[in-house]
Amino acid sequence: MARMAALEDKYLGSEVPETQSGFGGGRARWIAERSPMTEAIDRDGDFLDVGCANGLLASDVVSWAAERGFRIVPHGVDLGESLIDRARERHMDRAGNFVAADAWQWQPGREWTFVYSLLELAPSDLRCEWLRRLYGWVDQDGKLIIGSYGSRSRNLAPVDVAEILGRCGFEVAGSATGGDGPMTRFAWVDK
Ligand SMILES: C[S@@+](CC[C@H](N)C(=O)[O-])C[C@H]1O[C@@H](n2cnc3c(N)ncnc32)[C@H](O)[C@@H]1O
Repeated sequence: MARMAALEDKYLGSEVPETQSGFGGGRARWIAERSPMTEAIDRDGDFLDVGCANGLLASDVVSWAAERGFRIVPHGVDLGESLIDRARERHMDRAGNFVAADAWQWQPGREWTFVYSLLELAPSDLRCEWLRRLYGWVDQDGKLIIGSYGSRSRNLAPVDVAEILGRCGFEVAGSATGGDGPMTRFAWVDK
């Protein structure tokens, strides 16, 4: 819990929306590095961001998908209660769709058309378990979308998420990359 409090202090110590989502590179790089994941969105539906922080990504996914003709309803879950407060402020008309919970314990009791999360939210020995857990929350005909983010400041490349999905027994339906390097990698599987 002390780690979570430190993370919330770090994220919410800034009023910059991208920083409140853990990204220090500014708006243009945020768009370049995050928006390619919307290549997975091929229909209207509900989108759950697991580890949604202040809800910025979910809000941008609504706009990026709309540019491609799809209507997305945003949802999110995050460990940080203060982050979820920010997400609820951002999504005032959908505040009830944002929940403070630990995704490893959470029993949502429903499914979503698109479930998105980061490979980095699981320790490397629990990656397959994490992916199977998230896949269980995907609607029939929906998609699980997984991302990995590199770090310029730590000189880290993103993990090859398609390869990890394959190693965990999933059939990868598509993939995308973002930013120079690239700095982000995404891959998705159909239900
Ligand atoms: C880097 S931010 C991601 C923000 C946004 N989803 C994005 O992709 O840009 C990671 C978030 O995951 C949250 N998180 C980490 N482990 C979690 C867990 N087990 N359950 C829910 N949220 C978690 C953290 O609190 C943090 O806000």
